[in-house]
Amino acid sequence: MSRLAMPSNPPPIQPFEAPRHVAIIMDGNGRWASARGLTRGEGHRRGVEALRKTVRAAGEIGISYLTIFSFSAENWSRPPSEIRDLMGLLRRFIRNDLAELHQNRVKVRVIGERNDLDPEIRRLLDEAEELTRNNDKLTLIVAFNYGARQEIARAAAKLAARVRAGEIDPSAVTADLIGQNLDAPDLPDPDLIIRTSGEQRLSNFLLWQAAYSELVFVPTYWPDFDRAALEGAIAEYHRRERRFGGLIAQTGS
Ligand code: FPP
Repeated sequence: MSRLAMPSNPPPIQPFEAPRHVAIIMDGNGRWASARGLTRGEGHRRGVEALRKTVRAAGEIGISYLTIFSFSAENWSRPPSEIRDLMGLLRRFIRNDLAELHQNRVKVRVIGERNDLDPEIRRLLDEAEELTRNNDKLTLIVAFNYGARQEIARAAAKLAARVRAGEIDPSAVTADLIGQNLDAPDLPDPDLIIRTSGEQRLSNFLLWQAAYSELVFVPTYWPDFDRAALEGAIAEYHRRERRFGGLIAQTGS
């Protein structure tokens, strides 16, 4: 056989170990829709379908934590009709899908600023967390009205108040203590952050927690994302060598 010839039966791809925590920036709903002459609202609706499929796939693959960027603190600058659409989709997602998520032992957590939200949305988010709090299969972290700089600023404000009250000394404010005052301090940092639609930036998502995350950017628009795309991103993650600033390669999971 020549040096370049491929064996006639290439070995099957090895099943991979799932990263423990995957976070996704679900981008490209608008471009997906405009490429088809559809409204942006329709793009977001198809985005929710892709989300359902992805949550199911994440559970099947064995991911323990899945964080999704659903509405950013900066999304308020979109036209009011689009904001209404996104709020409506969140309401419907929780009303229609919560029972099934609960049945599948999914624990829902929410990060972001809840105080500025419509009271009904706040109640739904609280209810989703309350109902699913004892579930143990997949934790779905919904980043809603979320911005990483705002999250870090909230942590700084809490610590500043404790310093002012004399409870802690300024020298006690370490990276660990800031981490412990973020919105969900008990969760592990993401091993893998995926952004769809070909954009290559974090856009104020999990800036603190992403310090050692692997970033994978895929060209797929979010409504077309599915289990195969998730597995492709995980395969890319496994090709990376994670060193966490040290010398010895480590796996994140
Ligand atoms: C980015 O597409 C996506 C969003 C702003 C929000 C993501 C929302 C969903 C997938 C549906 C809502 C789900 C819940 C649970 C509320 P884009 O509009 O920025 O797309 P573009 O960059 O192509 O315009």
